[in-house]
Amino acid sequence: RIAYVNGRYLPQRDACVNIEDRGYQFGDGIYEVLHIHDGHFVDTDLHLARLARSLREMALARPMSDAALLAVLREVARRNRVTEGIVYMQITRGVARRDHAFPRAGTAPALVVTARHGNAFPRDIDAWAAGAITVTDIRWGRCDIKSVNLLPNVLAKQKAREAGVYEAILIDASGNVTEGSSTTVWAVDANGVLRTRQLDDHILPGCTRAALAAILAENAVAFEERGLSETEFRAAREVFLTSATSFVKPIVTLDGATVGDGKPGPVARRLFALFARHAD
Ligand code: PDD
Repeated sequence: RIAYVNGRYLPQRDACVNIEDRGYQFGDGIYEVLHIHDGHFVDTDLHLARLARSLREMALARPMSDAALLAVLREVARRNRVTEGIVYMQITRGVARRDHAFPRAGTAPALVVTARHGNAFPRDIDAWAAGAITVTDIRWGRCDIKSVNLLPNVLAKQKAREAGVYEAILIDASGNVTEGSSTTVWAVDANGVLRTRQLDDHILPGCTRAALAAILAENAVAFEERGLSETEFRAAREVFLTSATSFVKPIVTLDGATVGDGKPGPVARRLFALFARHAD
């Protein structure tokens, strides 16, 4: 496998970052994950726009233009011959003597890009359906920034892994669903209304969420950007997740209880198909 590290393409086993990289020491960096399908990146513009937003919110210098970045992403995918998989990019505030405050102006940001095979689009939604658990959302107040500070997400996902399910869905201190540890949460509530939480500082603005919202509008499918309480969530007819690597993923068990009739529901089925067409 070949990685891009600060201007060089290297075999991944030889690719290293400095031990005083601020990403390593402080989690002072951001990232993006894009799905590669049939040799092309899915929702590229949305990911680049979110990257720009994360950079701005962190006052992080941009290592290169979007066009140059896209060329690097393509080159990493090409050198790894990835036509179905994912590309990962990470930008940190670079290497500096350890000091919490930002290093002096001019410190070069560090850029790392890797790609890997797999994560092909599932053909069968029933086989793609999965379970989830709920856990307390213990994250910070700026979850809208796609930062590499992922410890609470890591701990949540590990709980899901240990419970033998796909995802941990986070419930905040007010008893409302925020999002999954690495996914956006959607539900069809007990009244049949399709809902996903409104965007603010407490969740990541998902690119797949945005793409799906556009697809819904194009197909005149109504939905509300309104969060669900835990009680509403447990009474939902359908639950599904979205992300660049989960696509539209039906959740059919929640904390061991069946969601709906325990199979992907009609809304998830329709959106799964519409999203597959969009990514093609
Ligand atoms: N995760 N919420 C969180 C906390 C996420 O980490 C992600 C993405 C999403 C969905 O965003 P998008 O639709 O843009 O992928 C929501 C990526 C896939 C990851 O960390 O691997």
